[in-house]
Amino acid sequence: MKYGQGPAAAWRTDYPSEVNTEVAPPWASVNFETDPAKYMAAVLSTVRTDFAVKGDLLAPNETRNEWWISPWMDFTNAGRERRMALTNERGPKPGDLSPTSGDDYQVWAVGFYNARGATVLGSIFDDECDPFFPTAVRFPDQTASVKFLFTNASPDEVTYLKGAPEFKAYINPDPVGDRPETRPEKRILGTLRLLQVDVAVKDPRADATDWVFGTFIWRGPARGDKFFDNLVPASLQWGNDPGVYDMGIQQSWINPRLKGVTHGWKERPFLGFNGRANGPADNLRSSCLSCHSTARAPAGHLRQVDGSFDMDRDYYTQAKVKQHVDSWFQNIRGNELFLPTEPVTTNLDYSLQLESSIIRLCNACITGALTGPTPKICRETGFQGRIERVVRVTRSMCTDKASSSRLKTTPFAGFSSEFEALTTIVPPRQ
Ligand code: HEC
Repeated sequence: MKYGQGPAAAWRTDYPSEVNTEVAPPWASVNFETDPAKYMAAVLSTVRTDFAVKGDLLAPNETRNEWWISPWMDFTNAGRERRMALTNERGPKPGDLSPTSGDDYQVWAVGFYNARGATVLGSIFDDECDPFFPTAVRFPDQTASVKFLFTNASPDEVTYLKGAPEFKAYINPDPVGDRPETRPEKRILGTLRLLQVDVAVKDPRADATDWVFGTFIWRGPARGDKFFDNLVPASLQWGNDPGVYDMGIQQSWINPRLKGVTHGWKERPFLGFNGRANGPADNLRSSCLSCHSTARAPAGHLRQVDGSFDMDRDYYTQAKVKQHVDSWFQNIRGNELFLPTEPVTTNLDYSLQLESSIIRLCNACITGALTGPTPKICRETGFQGRIERVVRVTRSMCTDKASSSRLKTTPFAGFSSEFEALTTIVPPRQ
């Protein structure tokens, strides 16, 4: 593995320790419930100034980029690829993206925090090799996060992607038979198109969950800058509508103009469960806030909504729907815990990126990519037993870099077969 071999697009990990909070962000004066599209546009206005499309690469705007990525997302089979630092996400099921969209498509994504959020990353990862997680992570108000999701789905099937700019990244080869190939060393340069842009804001007015989550889709035909100018708001959510078992959803907004485009057919009657907010790439049994409200380490007996709720059978059984809604769609504040009676080390305030980074850091430790003392968070969240069994001391990633124990750039393990990622680590977004 080559150290410091960052992605072709050099994303920031130089987390700020302080932020000027005097200037209110542009969305602060917009009501997300009554003016959802305007609220989303205000969030997006802080993103579009900071990112640039350079040929087939999404990159930071060289003169201004105030967005930071999380460390440690490089590891595991779903870890960051080398060109845009994308991680491998849940692949859409047939009929998910459009009435005719097929199987085996891939989704790859990269997520960022704004300066306020990045101060939290900085305080946690001050010692990147032994991060400090408080009992309850607390992102400051007006923390924002943005995530770009790309897919290799065919625009012939997902027609709103027709004319979309093409990006190149190292993705998985097509499956052989029904066996998907996910070993990082087998990745190939493939073509992706922007599918969806997710945003999340810790908004002090969101008193049900503390967070507002929403997503845009890229919709052709291409116009303007062909990137941001094509984004259409698809959904926004400020609560999970707990106890609502029918379609009477009040705490999500769904863009009615996208009926028949993103949802509204047999396999995809809605974006998120019963009309809650979600994106086309997401599991229709879930919602943005549902998945993110589970962020904690270690996970409890329920992790994130998976495919086990049967849309053909369970959906028509009242008791099953009730159980599904009651398990997954609660309104939990940022400082409240999902599954509060189950042992926990750190509550992650809706950040699944932090949850992934813990799993991947500990995975690096297990596989020997990280040597030296086992990080506290891995011991405390129960990775210890497994580490002791399988650790192969190859070299110390954290202490190699002078003795300062602070990594300045994230290593990209994507192409090294030296560290075989454990296959027990599930890719994000089930
Ligand atoms: C099935 C669960 C699931 C659903 C549904 C989901 N996400 Fe996420 N999301 C994840 C995971 C896992 C990550 C972390 C991995 C990553 O960043 O690649 C993540 C990361 C993010 C991030 C980066 C910051 C963070 O909190 O980790 C944002 C922003 C985000 N999602 C927004 C959304 C929005 C908006 C929606 C709905 C449109 C949504 N998500 C739906 C699982 C989910």
